[in-house]
Amino acid sequence: MNDHSHPVRRAARQPDQATGGRFTTALAHPNIALVKYWGKADPTLNVPAVPSVSITLDALVTETRVRFDGSLAADSISLNGEELPFASGQARRISACLDALRSQAHTQLRARVETRNDFPTGAGLASSASGFAALVVAAAAALQLELSPTAASKIARAASASAARSLFGGFAELPAGRAGEDVAALSLAAAEHWPLEVAVAICAEGPKAVGSTRGMIDSAATSPFYGTWVETAAADAAAARTAISQRDFAALAAVSEASCLKMHAVMQTTCPALLYWNAATMATLERIRSLQQAGTEVFFTMDAGPQVKAVCTPGACREVAEALESVPGVSRVLTSGLGGPARLVGSSCV
Ligand code: PMV
Repeated sequence: MNDHSHPVRRAARQPDQATGGRFTTALAHPNIALVKYWGKADPTLNVPAVPSVSITLDALVTETRVRFDGSLAADSISLNGEELPFASGQARRISACLDALRSQAHTQLRARVETRNDFPTGAGLASSASGFAALVVAAAAALQLELSPTAASKIARAASASAARSLFGGFAELPAGRAGEDVAALSLAAAEHWPLEVAVAICAEGPKAVGSTRGMIDSAATSPFYGTWVETAAADAAAARTAISQRDFAALAAVSEASCLKMHAVMQTTCPALLYWNAATMATLERIRSLQQAGTEVFFTMDAGPQVKAVCTPGACREVAEALESVPGVSRVLTSGLGGPARLVGSSCV
């Protein structure tokens, strides 16, 4: 049942000679949590306070290429073809992730990073998950670092906890940790174990109002439901693991919808309130309820944004996507199967 693929290749350890002017390119897919992560046990090390269980999507892709270059005085980064301003929040997060790899490779070399998403960035579609997973795989290989998927997952987690899960394909879990603990995600099952499909209803195209890091800190400090959320999460993760291993769709639907709604209850009772839904989100949920009542195997989940992800059994996705396309306010519907782990795709001189 485990996914044994190794996303980071083995190579000699000679970081300062490793780059040779070549870009190393990796692909990673976003993942969608069915049992949600919201809250940190250690905000500095980015250790989650709750376990999360996710599925990795194959149709959405981040492609990242990295070149370490002795002539660079600082990291230089482009996202979707636009240069990130030096010392912007995003650039600092990426450089901090590269620092962790540089320290393991015993090098000070700065990097050129070019990353591209083929889906909306920063809109609740987990672009940070696929982005940091692809970055770690590409940069580790460019530095000729020999990292296990677990070691790569820990480095990705420090940048964005959900990214730890995108190192793995199919079904993955990121356990909760304690302050100071360096947790990594693990594979629960490969995509072939249960080829679920997902229809993503895009309910707004713009970036989200409040990022997850700020939101989680505010929730822990102010939501009256936060304690219950943390206490009940282990049981939700256990129920999801059992449902996945038994391919029990009704059980997975029940725990996934409950975890999502609990997380949004925490968000909505945070001060200031985190209201990620819009009218189209609500209309999409109603449409999914009607589909369920008519016997279609589908359930919903939502993250820190208005998009609704409808998870379906194989074969139901076309009907679900068609139904969601006609919901007022839904601009488009993306569909996907389950995908593989973050992986290297090659190196090139230009
Ligand atoms: O890893 P972050 O900081 O992008 O947080 C992700 C939080 C949610 O998407 C809302 C839930 C999850 O588990 O992915």
